[in-house]
Amino acid sequence: MRTIREVEDSDLPELIRITTEAFPGMKVVSQEDRDQMLERLIKVKKEPIVHFFAVYEGARMVGVMRCYDFTMKLHETRTLVGGLGAVAVDLRHKKERVAADMVRFYLDYYRDKGAALTALYPFRPDFYRRMGFGYGVKMNRYSFRADALPAAHGRARLDFLTADDRDELAACYDRFLERTNGLIELPPHVLDGLFTDPALRFAGYREGGRLRGYLIFRFEPVREDNFLSNNLRIRALIYDDATALAALLAFLRTQADQVERIIHETQDDTFHYLLTDPRNGSGSLLAGLWHETNTQGAGIMYRVVDTPRLFEALRDHDFGGETLALRLNLADSFLPENGGSYTLRVEKGRAALDAAGGAADVEVGMDVSEFSSLVTGAIDFARLHAYGLATLSDASYLPAVDRLFRAAHRPWCMTSF
Ligand SMILES: CC(C)(COP(=O)(O)OP(=O)(O)OC[C@H]1O[C@@H](n2cnc3c(N)ncnc32)[C@H](O)[C@@H]1OP(=O)(O)O)[C@@H](O)C(=O)NCCC(=O)NCCS
Repeated sequence: MRTIREVEDSDLPELIRITTEAFPGMKVVSQEDRDQMLERLIKVKKEPIVHFFAVYEGARMVGVMRCYDFTMKLHETRTLVGGLGAVAVDLRHKKERVAADMVRFYLDYYRDKGAALTALYPFRPDFYRRMGFGYGVKMNRYSFRADALPAAHGRARLDFLTADDRDELAACYDRFLERTNGLIELPPHVLDGLFTDPALRFAGYREGGRLRGYLIFRFEPVREDNFLSNNLRIRALIYDDATALAALLAFLRTQADQVERIIHETQDDTFHYLLTDPRNGSGSLLAGLWHETNTQGAGIMYRVVDTPRLFEALRDHDFGGETLALRLNLADSFLPENGGSYTLRVEKGRAALDAAGGAADVEVGMDVSEFSSLVTGAIDFARLHAYGLATLSDASYLPAVDRLFRAAHRPWCMTSF
């Protein structure tokens, strides 16, 4: 008989065995490595937002996963979003639907907890897409010379920050989150963890004594045989406004003599507007005369687990100022109780589901994976329609439906899990 339940501390050594066999790249090999990992996991397990689950067949553990109660900014609303990570199946029990059972359990767990949405970083996007997860916004890796950044007007000196500045830093991040879409509230243990990493440097810009922006970065050797040759890798670039951003970038620019390139991984795909020379140093030309500026990767995926609750959470969201009745035909093979036909009545942009159904002006149809990307703002309806990934009963409604789902900001995620 298969059961799934939260893991006791005494089960952690077995969880570590399954995890390290599934992820040999973690390089947890010796007893000492395992002891260190155990110590770390005992601490993490105490965090109220983190839940370790395992699948048992009788008394034998055959699979593990970690769930996170995140609070995410979805458009104007802060809402519970269930994160999933560290999924691993015992080598001897692959292809027995252990992972499928875990994912199903995780989706139910967050439905029961009151979430409308879940999110994860896939080890393989296709594996989770089949389970109804949709792509988020891609990550860009920029690699530019420091002197490609704008110079400062005047000299705004930055301060180094320490753990004493923790609360101010958290408040600055939270203001940034408030102005954007998709960001996850900084869990306290993640914030504290940052300050324990000796390689990280924290620089902050203050105005009138108040922290208005900060930069977290580290130096990385470019080559082993030359200790003078280093890149600067940005871990976080958070700012209240253009003045704070300018100060942070001016600081980075002044490192030009010490730094070969600045590596910035960001979902901001217009970051190159800040660079006088956006080329990434690869020297590659694309499709004729297009200079390579950044490489990209697909990562975070979203999944709606409770469509009625999603529209409840978005009751104050402006769906493009539109007024129309829309029938949404949602396919959800992995979580069928979430699929079906929903009638959405939108009045001057405010949307509410009509439980009675009734007539609709137009019908749209799509899979829950695309719907999840659409409602988070990762993609526009017109694109899905052009790709044949969404159907529309009356093409004359395309501009209205596109406006209805169009987001002011694409969703970004700066939390790894
Ligand atoms: C990746 C890993 C977790 C997969 O575990 P697994 O238990 O072998 O996977 P499963 O047997 O549950 O396979 C997924 C099942 O879900 C099913 N499934 C997927 N989408 C479905 C859908 N919409 N409806 C019904 N079933 C679906 C698949 O068909 C498959 O079942 P099948 O083999 O019977 O066809 C495991 O190989 C592993 O631990 N790998 C190493 C670590 C790792 O990469 N972890 C992932 C980190 S995020």
